[in-house]
Amino acid sequence: LQHLLTLEGLSREMLMHILNTAESFLSLNNHDVKKVPLLRGKSVFNIFFENSTRTRTTFEIAAKRLSADVVNLDMQTSSTSKGETLLDTMDNLAAMHADMFVVRHNQSGAPYLMAEHLNKLGKKDIHIVNAGDGRHAHPTQGLLDMYTIRHYKKDFTQLRVAIVGDVLHSRVARSDIHALTTLGVPEVRVIGPQTLLPSGLREMGVHVYHDMAAGLKDVDVVIMLRLQKERMHGALLPSEAEYFKHYGLTLDKLAHAAQDAIVMHPGPINRGVEIASEVADSSQAVILPQVSFGIAVRMAVMAILSGGHAA
Ligand code: CP
Repeated sequence: LQHLLTLEGLSREMLMHILNTAESFLSLNNHDVKKVPLLRGKSVFNIFFENSTRTRTTFEIAAKRLSADVVNLDMQTSSTSKGETLLDTMDNLAAMHADMFVVRHNQSGAPYLMAEHLNKLGKKDIHIVNAGDGRHAHPTQGLLDMYTIRHYKKDFTQLRVAIVGDVLHSRVARSDIHALTTLGVPEVRVIGPQTLLPSGLREMGVHVYHDMAAGLKDVDVVIMLRLQKERMHGALLPSEAEYFKHYGLTLDKLAHAAQDAIVMHPGPINRGVEIASEVADSSQAVILPQVSFGIAVRMAVMAILSGGHAA
C-alpha cells in the first residue's frame, strides 16, 4: 500500500492487517501506546484545509509515538491564500523532504490528485493519507470505527449495525459502509429522512429505513452522524428541533436496539440535535474510546504505508 485514499476496494485481509497492527501497538504496553522508533528520521506533514480536532491531533500524536518529525501547517496562514495551488504547495513541502502528507480537504478527490501527481513524478517513497475529502471518504475514521466495533463486539459476522442521520453528506458513513460490508457484517442499515440519504445505498448492500423504531430494532451497534451543514450549501435544512424529534437518539429510541448495543459517533457531537446528552454520556456510548483507538489505528496506517511494520 503506497497511499491510503479510501477503504473501497481494500481487501478483508488488508483491513484486518491494519486492525491487528493497531492492536499490537496497544497491547505492547497494557493499552497505553508506547513510543516506538518505526518512523525515526521521517517527516510527516499534516495539511488540513478544513477544521479538525480529533483527526489532526491524533495523527500528530500517532506520528510522534512512531518517532517521526511532525509538521502541522496552518493552512489559514499559508501561501495558498496568495493563489498557490495544492500541487505547488505539495511540491514545495516535498522539497523540504516530506515523507508523508496527511491531508484533509473540502473537495472530494483532492488527495487523489496529490497521489496521482506524486506517481507521475515517480516519487514512490512519499505517501498520502486521506484525512477526509469532501463528502467522499474518511478512511482512518472508518478503520478506527471498525477497531472499536471489534473491541466491543469481537465478531463482525454476527452483527446488525445502523448508521443514523445525514448519510448524504457523510464521508464517514461511506467509509464505514465499505469496511463493514468487506468485513462480513451481515446487516448494515441506514436510517434517516429521504432528503439526507444518497441514492445507490441498496446497491451497496445496505438496508434503508426512515423510521427510528424500525431501523434500530435489535441492532448491536448504532453509529450516529452530525448534520453536516457545512456541506449542505443552501439546501433546505430541517429545523434542529424537528430533526431531533424524529432522528435524535434518546434513551427511549435506543431501547429498540439490543440491550448491550454500543453507541458510536465520529464527533463532533451536537447535543440535542442528533444525540441527547442522556445517551452521549451513558455507559452505552463509546464515543471517547473511539478517539483513543484512533491513535493506535493511525500509527498502524502510517507504519504500514512506510513499510515499517508487519503484524
Ligand atoms: N471525526 C472527525 O473527523 O473529527 P474532526 O473533524 O474533529 O477531525
